[in-house]
Parts: sequence; structure tokens; C-alpha cells
Amino acid sequence: MQRQFFFRKNHVIINFMETIISTIDKNNIDESIILNAGQILKEGGLVAFPTETVYGLGANALDEEAAKKTYAAKGRPSDNPLIVHIAELNALDKIVTDIPEMTEKIAQHFWPGPLTMIFKKSESVPYGTTGGLDTVAVRMPSDKIARALIVAAGGYVSAPSANTSGRPSPTTAQHVKADLDGKIDMILDGGSVDIGLESTILDMTVMPPMILRPGAITADMLEEVIGEVTVDKTLLDSSSTQRPKAPGMKYRHYAPDAKLTIVEGTLREEVLAIRQLAYEAHRQGRQVGIIATNESERYYTHGIVKNIGTRENEKTIARNLYAVLRDFNEEDISEIYSESFAVQGIGNAIMNRLEKAAGHVRISAAPIVAKQKYRRIVFVSQTDTSRGPVAAELLRNADLYQEYAIESRGMIVLFPEPVNQKVEAIMKSGKMTLQNHTSKAFMEEDLSEETLVLTFDESQKNKILSEYETSQNVYSINEFLDDTTEIPNPYGQPLTAYGEFYEIMKALIGKLANKLNSFTEGGK
Ligand code: TXA
Ligand code: MG
Repeated sequence: MQRQFFFRKNHVIINFMETIISTIDKNNIDESIILNAGQILKEGGLVAFPTETVYGLGANALDEEAAKKTYAAKGRPSDNPLIVHIAELNALDKIVTDIPEMTEKIAQHFWPGPLTMIFKKSESVPYGTTGGLDTVAVRMPSDKIARALIVAAGGYVSAPSANTSGRPSPTTAQHVKADLDGKIDMILDGGSVDIGLESTILDMTVMPPMILRPGAITADMLEEVIGEVTVDKTLLDSSSTQRPKAPGMKYRHYAPDAKLTIVEGTLREEVLAIRQLAYEAHRQGRQVGIIATNESERYYTHGIVKNIGTRENEKTIARNLYAVLRDFNEEDISEIYSESFAVQGIGNAIMNRLEKAAGHVRISAAPIVAKQKYRRIVFVSQTDTSRGPVAAELLRNADLYQEYAIESRGMIVLFPEPVNQKVEAIMKSGKMTLQNHTSKAFMEEDLSEETLVLTFDESQKNKILSEYETSQNVYSINEFLDDTTEIPNPYGQPLTAYGEFYEIMKALIGKLANKLNSFTEGGK
């Protein structure tokens, strides 16, 4: 039944099979495709299919040989047990013994759906399927294609997520194809899945039942129905060296190719820290990937930013997580940084998967943000048509370890004006331009905790201090740099005076850049 070819390449025998891909509409299921797929499973083949959580790699759960094939196709260690998928509640009786009383109540509430329960296995279930364990994991999926396939296959379909072991679970048929094309018999393409994260696993062999893997069915939801449930301790403590109770949870999982780091703090701190990390990489000629949300996406200026969903509806984040992790494999990036998510409701499952994808690498945002003494620098001159814009542009061209908004303002600006011709001529000689500059008036909003305001002389500084009660971080350039160089004012003078000013300013801006860089250690 399988079309298999063996051929020799550099003395390695490659087992290649043609994978049939059939598109199938959930709302109008083509029975002939399902019958065909069911037949493949009955004959010991492998068929990937959609479920409401992620795509599964189906095999006959009661066939030891089929289990072996499953492990081989995924490249998965065979001590990692498979979940048996059923379509009817009474199918349980054949594969499990000792069904606890509350099972029916749980099943009534959550089956069909994203919940897997673990029971003692019966003799009908081969050890190949359970990874050698005396227990078996069972789930009744709600996806219509999945249900039809299970029925067509005889009622018992083992299905791990249909990805290569270690990679993010597939949420589309394209993901399955990318990992398993040529290694399995068939893929049923039913479009994107709904939930996007694997089922909640509940161990029913202990009382109270214990959650071994968080998912869309949360502890709170279960407790409402059956009272107390516990949670596998190793899930709560990422530094735990204990073995998790679900064997699969011990492997580094869901991982993109580039190293992923989770950045933790308030959302504001996370954004500022990731911005800084992206900027540092950019300076060094690297590009980072950033996992952002609707709420934060626009604040990133460097790196490849992927929007994972909205914090207002974490289901969108769950649905997109694996696709985003996979998408980053197509990008030329050195590393990935992710914001973190609240650990409540489905956020538990999101953070659990994100942490595994990151190999538990987390960093705190606060210390990175603390190094950012200023985030904005404003040069204030009289008219904002010569000295201010020149200083600002020189600083923009300096090698800074941190990203700053660098601007200039004038104390007396009645209407917007460009820089004068002599300024532009001098800038051109330095391969810069202020062509797009127009003067802007200094305003109270230019004063803030994160803005450094620099004036060209004492009197301008004093004017700001006396005019605005909210004055903070206002210095003359000489004062800030502890430098006595006299800064000339070329205004109304010949071109040579502008040239002189430019050279003096260039030296001072070099000094300013060094001082600013000294606040941000860690740069090169
Ligand atoms: O949503 C899902 O559950 C998906 C779809 C396809 O149904 N399936 C899935 O399967 O995520 P898989 O193989 O990727 O993950 C199964 C997890 C593993 O962590 C495995 O160790 C655990 O379930 N598991 C299976 N049987 C177990 C058992 N008897 N005792 C403890 N853990 C078990
Ligand atoms: Mg998996």
C-alpha cells in the first residue's frame, strides 16, 4: 500500500515515500478521502490530521509496529508515550482499566475537546504506544475531521503532534509538510487549527488528579467541575531538576533554530530592554527577532518584529505562537527575544511552551533599563537654525551604545525655518545634511526625567531654569562635560566662523558620546 523507494546516496540508504496531501473541508467532509485515510491507518500507515489543538500524526494505536513508525518519522525517543485518540466515550473501556468515578463528569464537560486523561492501560494497548508505561493517555478531540478519521480507522488513533521532535508543533498542514514530507503516507489539510497549543494533560491515576501539561482547559476550569486538582511541581519551577511526570515534558521543545530568550518585567520595561538588545545587535551588524504583540509592536525600531496577537485576547497569542516560532526559521537572525505573558488562564500554557522553546533562558528587563539614564537628548539654542541642529546631527552620527531620540529646539522660534545656507554647506563638507530640518520651539514637554537638555551657554540654561518650574536634567554643554572649551556663535558671521564652530562642536560631541556611553556598560 505504501509507495516506498529506497535509493543509495553517498552510501546512506534513504527511505523515501511519497506523501499524499488532501485538502478537506471541515464543514463539508469528503467521505472518500476519510475512508482512504482510515484504510491507510488500518494497514499500519501514518496519516497527519488536524485537531482543534495542533496537527497530530495518526497511527493505529493498537498496533505496535505503527507506533515504531511514528517514532521513526518524528525522530522521537521511543520512551515518550503517545496519546490515544478516540471518538466515543465507550471506546475507553477497551483500552483502560480502573476508570475513576469522576471521569464521566470530566468527560461530560470537556470531551470532545482539548483535554487528555491518563489511566491504567489495558492489555489491548501495546507498550510501543505507551512508551513502556503501564498507563495510557486518552483524548477525544472535537475537530470534525479528526473524529471522522478516528471512526474510519477503527476507533483508536495514536497521535503525537505531527512535527519533527524538538520543533514547534504544527498548526497548519504546511508545517506538517515542512517536517514530515516523504516520511509519512498522507496529510489531511483542514486549514489552521483553532487553539494552537497541545491539550491539557490530566493524570487520573492519582487523587486528586494532577495536571501534567497546561493547556486550554485550565486548572480553574477543572476545579469548577471536580474540586481540587494539583499541578506537577516541575511545571511550576522551571529550575527544578526533578523529572516531569509526562515524559515528553523533559525534552527541549517547540524550539526555533535561533536561540530564544524571554525578557521579563513590566511591559514597558520589556519593550525598552528588547529595544536596547535589538539596537546593540544592530550596531554589531546582527539582526534579532522580536516576539511582540499588537500593543507593543510599534515601539520597536530595529530587528525583525513579529506580532503574535493581542494581550486583550490571549487566545490569539496561543494560536499564533508556534507559527511565529517557525516563521523565524526563515529569517536571517542571530537570536530571538520575546516579551512575557501573564501566567493565568491560557497564559499558563503559553508561558510553559515559550519557556520550553527558550530552554528556560529568561532575563530580567529592569537592569537593562536601569542603565538607560536618558532616552532623549535635546539641544537648545536661540533660534534652532544653526548650532542646535548641527550638534544634534553630529550626535546622531556618533557611535552610541544606546538608542536616543536626538533633537534640537530654539528658545525663540516664531515660525518654522530651515537652517541657513552656510550651515548646510559646512554639513555637506562633513557628508551630512540638515536639509530636512525646520526649527521648533522649546516647550515644557521637552523637560522630563528621561530627557537630557543641553544648552550652548549658561544664560540659556538659566533662562530655562527660571521659566519652567518642572526643569530637570538641564545643563550647559560645558557643565555637563566638565569642559571649558568656549563654544563660539557663528550666527551672522562668514563661512569660516561656521567651519570653526563645526570643528569645536565635533570634538565636544565626541566627548559627549563617550560620556553617554559610559552610562550604558556592555557596549563595545
Ligand atoms: O493536543 C494534543 O494533545 C496533541 C494532538 C495531536 O492531540 N498531541 C500531542 O501529543 O501533543 P504529543 O505526543 O506531542 O504529546 C504527548 C504528551 C507527551 O508529553 C507525553 O510524554 C505525554 O503526553 N504522555 C503520553 N502518555 C503519557 C502517560 N501514559 N503518562 C504520562 N505522560 C504521557
Ligand atoms: Mg509534541
